[in-house]
Amino acid sequence: MCGIVGYIGPKKALPILISSLERLEYRGYDSSGIACISEKGDRGVYTIKEQGKLGRLKSKLNGALLDGHVGIGHTRWATHGEPSERNAHPHQDCSKKFALVHNGIIENYAELKHELQRKGHHFRSETDTEVAVHLIEEYFERCRNVFEAFQKAVIRMQGFFAFVLTTSHDPDAIYVFKRSNPLVIGVGNGENFVASDAPAILSYTNRMIYLDDNEMARVTADRTEVFRLGEKNPRRKPVVRIKWNMRQAEKDGFPHFMLKEIHEQPQVVDTILKERLRGNRIFFDSISKKTEKRLSRISKIHLVSCGTAYHAGLVGKYMLSECARLPVDASVSSEFRYEDPVVDERDLVIFITQSGETADTLAALRAAKEKKAFTLAIVNVVGSTIAREADCVIYTHAGPEIGVASTKAYLAQLTVLALFALYLGKLRGKLSSGQMREYINWLLKLPRQIEETLRQDKAVKQCARKLYTKRNFLYLGRGYNFPNALEGALKLKEITYAHAHGYAAGEMKHGPIALIDSEQPVICISPAAKTYEKMISNIQEIEARKGIVVSVATVGDQTIKKLSRFLFLIPETKEMLSSILAVIPLQLFAYYVAVFNKRDVDQPRNLAKSVTVE
Ligand code: M6R
Repeated sequence: MCGIVGYIGPKKALPILISSLERLEYRGYDSSGIACISEKGDRGVYTIKEQGKLGRLKSKLNGALLDGHVGIGHTRWATHGEPSERNAHPHQDCSKKFALVHNGIIENYAELKHELQRKGHHFRSETDTEVAVHLIEEYFERCRNVFEAFQKAVIRMQGFFAFVLTTSHDPDAIYVFKRSNPLVIGVGNGENFVASDAPAILSYTNRMIYLDDNEMARVTADRTEVFRLGEKNPRRKPVVRIKWNMRQAEKDGFPHFMLKEIHEQPQVVDTILKERLRGNRIFFDSISKKTEKRLSRISKIHLVSCGTAYHAGLVGKYMLSECARLPVDASVSSEFRYEDPVVDERDLVIFITQSGETADTLAALRAAKEKKAFTLAIVNVVGSTIAREADCVIYTHAGPEIGVASTKAYLAQLTVLALFALYLGKLRGKLSSGQMREYINWLLKLPRQIEETLRQDKAVKQCARKLYTKRNFLYLGRGYNFPNALEGALKLKEITYAHAHGYAAGEMKHGPIALIDSEQPVICISPAAKTYEKMISNIQEIEARKGIVVSVATVGDQTIKKLSRFLFLIPETKEMLSSILAVIPLQLFAYYVAVFNKRDVDQPRNLAKSVTVE
C-alpha cells in the first residue's frame, strides 16, 4: 500500500527522500511524488509527481528546484482515482502553501468535498486525499495556526489514515497524524525522519518513535512533540531502538529478495528455536504468570489472519488441536470481523500477521477485544499496531521481509505456532514430558532439514522449466499439508499470474477431478502422514487420467517416485512439522515459474506488501 517518507534536518532532503522511497518500493505502488520547502525566496512548497515506477520520477527530478532541507515523499497504490500523475501525492491546497501525503481512506471525503467546493475550493484530482489538504487550508484561513488547522481538519475526517504535511506557513516543521495506518518517526542527531515503515529510514537511524492511533506530532530538526488528538500538552513517547540492520534489507547477491528470503529460512527457524527453547522447556518472555493462568483456563481458540498468515492459522489449528486438545477455529480476518463472532472472555483469539498492520486483522483484533476475549498476536514487525494493541505478543523475529510474496515469515509463523501449541499442551497437562522431548528433538532438527530441502532447488527449477507455460495448476494436500496446498497455490498465483487452486485432496472427487487431463499439472503434497495411503489413492486417480503428477514426498519414498512425473523430496520428520518442510519446494516452484515467465517477482502487479486498507 502507499508508502510515506519525510525528512527535516541540515542535509538536502531530496536524496534522502528518494532513497527512503526506494526502500518502500516493495510495498507496491503505481505512482510517486515529492514535495520540498524551497531554500530560496518565499520558502514555498514545490512538488513533483509522476505515474509509474520511481525511475520515472527521478528522471523528472533532474534539474528541478527541489533544493530544500525539509521534504515529504510518497508512493501511491491507487484506491480513489486511476493511477496517474494528477492523482499522485503530494496533494496541494488552492494557495499551494500546503502539501500533504496520505495512506488510508477518508470515508466521508465526498461530503467534505461538496462542502469545500461550495466554499470555492478548486480540486485538481479524483482522490480522497485532496479533501484533507483543502480542509486544512480552510481552517488555517480562520485560525492562522497550522497545528490547530491540522487538528480541526483531522477531527472532521472519518476513516483510517496516516498523514504527513509540510507547509510554507511553518517551513521548519513537518506535521504528522496517525489513525490505524502505520507511521513512525525516526530520531536522528539534529535531524528527524518520518516513514510508514521503519526499514525505509533504517540506513539513517534505528531509533524510532511509534505513534499510537489519534496521535499527531510536530517534528522539527531537533525536536518531536507528540499530542493526543484534542489535547494541548505534549505526551512522553519512548524511543525504541530496533535491532534489524540494513544488510537484512539488501538482496545480498541474490537476484531477488524472495529467493534470498527463502534461503534465510534455516537461520530464521534456528533463531526462533534458540530464543524459545531452554532444554525441554518452551519459553515466551511476553507470557507472564498472570497470562499463563488465564491461558490454562481457556475453553476455545480462534486463529484469525489473512493470506499466507491465514494458511499459517490453518496449520496452527491442527497443531493446537493435536497438542492442547481444545476446540480450535481458523478464520480469515475479513470474515471474522463482520460475522459477530461467538467469542467471550474464556476464549483465546490469536492474530497472525507479518506486518502487524493489516487492516482487516487489526479490525478483527479490536472486535475480539470488545468481546473481552484474551488476544495474542504473533507478529514479525516489532512495534507495529497489532503488536501494541494485543494483550500479549509473540514476535517471530524473521527480520524484514521485503518480497511481496511471504516466505520466511510463514515458516517463522509455523515454527512459533508449533512451539506455542506444545507450550499450551504442557500447560494444560495434555502432553507428558516424554512426548515434549520427542517433539522438541524433531524441532531441533529443522534448521538442518530446511537446508537439506533447499538442495532440491535444482530439481524444482528443472520442473518449473518444463511447466512454466501452463496456465492452470492444481495443488492437493491433506491434514497438515492441506493448508500448504492453499499456500503453494497462492504463491504461484501471486507472482506468476497463472491460475492455481489449492484443495483438500479428499475433495478431489467432489469436483476438481473434472479438470484432470494430460495437460493438467497437479502438485500432490504427500509426506509421510496418517493420510499417506489416501494421498496415494488420489495420485493414482490423477495418473489414471494422465494428469502431470508433481509430488512432494519424504526421502526414500519409492511408491510416490514411481507414480510421479516430477518429485521433490523432504527429510523425514514428525507429521506436525511436515508443513514446515513441505512448503519449501512449493515456494521455490512458484519462484522459478515466475522467473521463467519474466515476472516482477518481488513486486508483482496489483499487490501490496502490507494491506493497510480494507
Ligand atoms: O502482514 P500480514 O501477514 O498480515 O499480511 C497478510 C497477507 O496480506 C499476506 O500474507 C499476503 O497474502 C502475502 N502477499 C502472501 O504472500
